[in-house]
Amino acid sequence: MAGAERAENDSVPAYNEVDVSVLVIGAGGAGARTAIELAERGVDDTLVLGKRNHGDAHTTWARGGINGALGTHDPEDSWEIHAADTLNEGHFVNDPEKVETVTKQMPDRLRELDDWGMDFSRTEDGEPDQRFFGAQSFRRTAFAGDYTGEALLNTLVEKAQEYEVPYQENVMITKLLSDGERCHGAVGFDMDTGEFMLFNAGAVVLAAGGHAAVYNRHTSRDDENNGDGAALAHDAGAELMDMEFVQFHPTGMAVDEDDPEWEPWSGRLVTEAVRGEGGRLFNSEGERFMERYSPDQMELDARDIVARAIAEEIAEGRGTENGGVYLDISHREQEFIQDRLPRMYERFSNLGVDMAEEAVEVAPTSHYGMGGVRVEKDGETSVDNLYAIGETMAGVHGANRLGGNSLAETVAYGAVTGAAVAERVDGPGTIPEDTHTSVAKPHLHGLQATANRDGEYEPESLMTELRDLMWEHAGILRKESSLRAGLDKLDDVRRKAQQMRVGDAQSQSFEFAIDMGFMLTASEAILRSALERTESRGAHYRTDHTEKDKQLQCNICIEQSDLGGMVLSTEPVDEPSESVRAAVNEGHELDYHQLE
Ligand code: FUM
Repeated sequence: MAGAERAENDSVPAYNEVDVSVLVIGAGGAGARTAIELAERGVDDTLVLGKRNHGDAHTTWARGGINGALGTHDPEDSWEIHAADTLNEGHFVNDPEKVETVTKQMPDRLRELDDWGMDFSRTEDGEPDQRFFGAQSFRRTAFAGDYTGEALLNTLVEKAQEYEVPYQENVMITKLLSDGERCHGAVGFDMDTGEFMLFNAGAVVLAAGGHAAVYNRHTSRDDENNGDGAALAHDAGAELMDMEFVQFHPTGMAVDEDDPEWEPWSGRLVTEAVRGEGGRLFNSEGERFMERYSPDQMELDARDIVARAIAEEIAEGRGTENGGVYLDISHREQEFIQDRLPRMYERFSNLGVDMAEEAVEVAPTSHYGMGGVRVEKDGETSVDNLYAIGETMAGVHGANRLGGNSLAETVAYGAVTGAAVAERVDGPGTIPEDTHTSVAKPHLHGLQATANRDGEYEPESLMTELRDLMWEHAGILRKESSLRAGLDKLDDVRRKAQQMRVGDAQSQSFEFAIDMGFMLTASEAILRSALERTESRGAHYRTDHTEKDKQLQCNICIEQSDLGGMVLSTEPVDEPSESVRAAVNEGHELDYHQLE
């Protein structure tokens, strides 16, 4: 890696220039696993960039577990049945090849994490334990208490440190340097110093998370998962796919918004592991309402089904005071809860609630974008040298994701994409003069003009306005008139975003102003795709088209038009392999009553 200060001529703002073979944008599980694979294959000048302090990526908020057919308790499980469950719950718009890429290698990836020292919860025999998770036929979700993401990232970061992989923290990427055909690097800024930065890179891997935080109730922190990855890729000329499929996790915290102690926790994840360990849902009338919606799979049915059931209970007046329903695991012993759900127990204890004694209040919350950047089987986008993985990519989860498959995807695709990039990359390369002139320079000018800009609107309040409109118009239930009204309101927010009041490049308002651009792109893509999908499938529920339409068993893709707008098209979905088709036809499903 080489770095240089460039003041250039008067007309270009000063920036710091860095040369690397591979630039990994995002320091969570997917980015870290990619960097490890690259190092193992001899690429010694990868740079991993994170927007936060080292080790503090969104991965640390992933809780309940990571899937892989290890068969610790259920030896009849197999990667094919894992693939079949994934396709079933994705309503068969997943890319079967990507599903198989993940499920086939997960047993090995889990053993590898175990070898690297991951702090898995264990059986009495010392094997990584596996628990039930929603809509999975067997106990397949390996876990570390309820801090699986944290344990995973710690393990990966330590491994990357063994290889001395360079990490740079607190850097935000604002643009990819692409001519639409090929990506040559990226521009961003150092959030600590405010310095602008330009990266020459032989390959760029976007591992920048998803877009679930474009909704007002979300499980992410406010400054992550705002669509950075999808928006950067779309702007660079790559295709997006499946953006209408946004997962609303059934159990986000439902709190008294007027209580300053509780308010910051609104929408934050109450892990599915609570239900996986036996937690039951009740409405305000004390009814275990899942008996009506899903008598066989109960609380562990697919997330979209449980989320809609909760939303319906609330809408029909059987919700709690704080707009949720009750989640109760108090029939389990305190020691059991503390052992299996230590972080949840601690969080609620700190707020004065003992989960071993009483129920907690929960309601659906935006959790994960199944869609994202359309990629080939090795993670490459339609732009050469640009890859997308983890939550940034689309294809594995289809219309609805199984809990525990997101962490699985990060390490599985980290390994696959790392290997593909290592094979192809050949040094940092150079940014062609015309890309420098027509892309990098105007963007650096734009960044300079954004800093210290006066205007009528605070970025933070516009973000709230945008999140509110997405919840209202493209939330759990959707319909044409509302989606169209959402697009009109989005235009209004976009207009206001031209008049934002922004501080210098070290300020939070500068970061949020950049976020606003990403959020506008991701939100428009969701609204337009949701309008196009005139059916209900998985997490996408249209009250004006309540059935599945066989004709729409396809992916909706988005490209940039020549004028910069969005052009939508559909792509057919491939068939799974014979062995996975056989597993689908065997009709495996979760038998909830084993838990009772
Ligand atoms: O509920 C959870 O612990 C979430 C897991 C996941 O989304 O994979």
